[in-house]
Amino acid sequence: MDLFDKLEGRPGPLGEFTSDGYGYYTFPKLEGPIGPEMKFNGKDVVVWSVNDYLSVGNHPRIRKADKEAAEKYGLSAPMGARLMTGNSDEHEALERELAEFMHKPEALLLNYGYQGIMSVIHALVDRNDFLIYDELSHACIVDGKQLAMAETSVFKHNDMKSLEKQLERATRKMKPNSSILVVTEGVFGMTGDLGKLKEIVALKEKYPFRILVDDAHGFGTLGKDGSGAGTQLGCHDGIDIYFGTFAKAVALIGAFVATEPRVNEFLKANTRSQIFAKSLPMPIVVSARERLKLIKENPQWREKLWENTKKLRNGLIELGYNVLPSESPVTPVLTSGSTDLCQEIMKEMREKHGIFVSGVAYPVVPKGVVLIRLIPMTGHTDEHIKKTLDAFEAIKPIAFRNLSEKMMA
Ligand SMILES: Cc1ncc(COP(=O)(O)O)c(C=O)c1O
Repeated sequence: MDLFDKLEGRPGPLGEFTSDGYGYYTFPKLEGPIGPEMKFNGKDVVVWSVNDYLSVGNHPRIRKADKEAAEKYGLSAPMGARLMTGNSDEHEALERELAEFMHKPEALLLNYGYQGIMSVIHALVDRNDFLIYDELSHACIVDGKQLAMAETSVFKHNDMKSLEKQLERATRKMKPNSSILVVTEGVFGMTGDLGKLKEIVALKEKYPFRILVDDAHGFGTLGKDGSGAGTQLGCHDGIDIYFGTFAKAVALIGAFVATEPRVNEFLKANTRSQIFAKSLPMPIVVSARERLKLIKENPQWREKLWENTKKLRNGLIELGYNVLPSESPVTPVLTSGSTDLCQEIMKEMREKHGIFVSGVAYPVVPKGVVLIRLIPMTGHTDEHIKKTLDAFEAIKPIAFRNLSEKMMA
């Protein structure tokens, strides 16, 4: 059978949705400067779907820094992979600043988070090793597992008994040259709950393993100084390799890992998707440095983010919505229904109320679950929150249509 003919009958789990709702439910185009108010299909909307948590993306100092860096360097330099011709003083300075921000000895810049963490996992473990990860891990961790040569197993989401079972099994099967890597997330991006990092770190007393934490949503937003979920939970030193991305709180592209020097040195020479790929352009690196500096100088932005998060969450709870026990700014609104209901809610919110929210249904979440995810930002105002809560009040007959007493509890 011709490969391309076969693809038509095999659209993939998201395929039918991407073509059906193209431009509206999938691949929508939000226009105008990044912020809580943007344009969608020519209409003004209050946006709860972009991850610019601290509202740095459109900050005047950043816009100026971006412009000046683009003027100074252009977008091409440096050409080549860092290993060859793509390194610069700016790249190295950013790594030093990231290490300092993260209270780790060293940091390694990654061109993209997704490919970066995949390669980090791939590089760290070999065929003698064991890789154990949380079942709700992001696709990039699952794909990292596919690349890894190690024997892999999952533990039930945040379930320490289940993790211990896997650790016991791996420890029993270990050969003298075997090692164990546990991978989890700081913040689970769809549900907003934190990884049980403190409990996992405590298990190091009992089992021989290292831990890698993907803290994409926690970097910049959690912890008193923004250094993430480990700091928030009081176990940062126990995280052996910390992964953060610029794609959320830094509102940019690029990512990094922060760890100890011998591991950094190893990863520098072994993360294949980074070594054999062009390095980040100078304006991105220069801008990342400026953004990190700005985030450091403005801890009150994190306070405002949390204030907004609490107002939004409490308002939704008062309206009777199930917002799950989220412990981060990620605010999920859970209801019961099909993909059709999910789309109806999104459309009603966008068209009737001028509120841009995104939702997911099966196959992204289990069948029957509709999850609308709201991402608060520092720049949201009380008026934005009120307008949004008024809209959620108005759509209750739709959102609660299939809800049993049990789910609402
Ligand atoms: C938990 C998690 N890990 C990794 C990534 C990938 O990061 P990036 O967008 O920098 O490739 C994302 C999405 O951005 C994410 O949510």
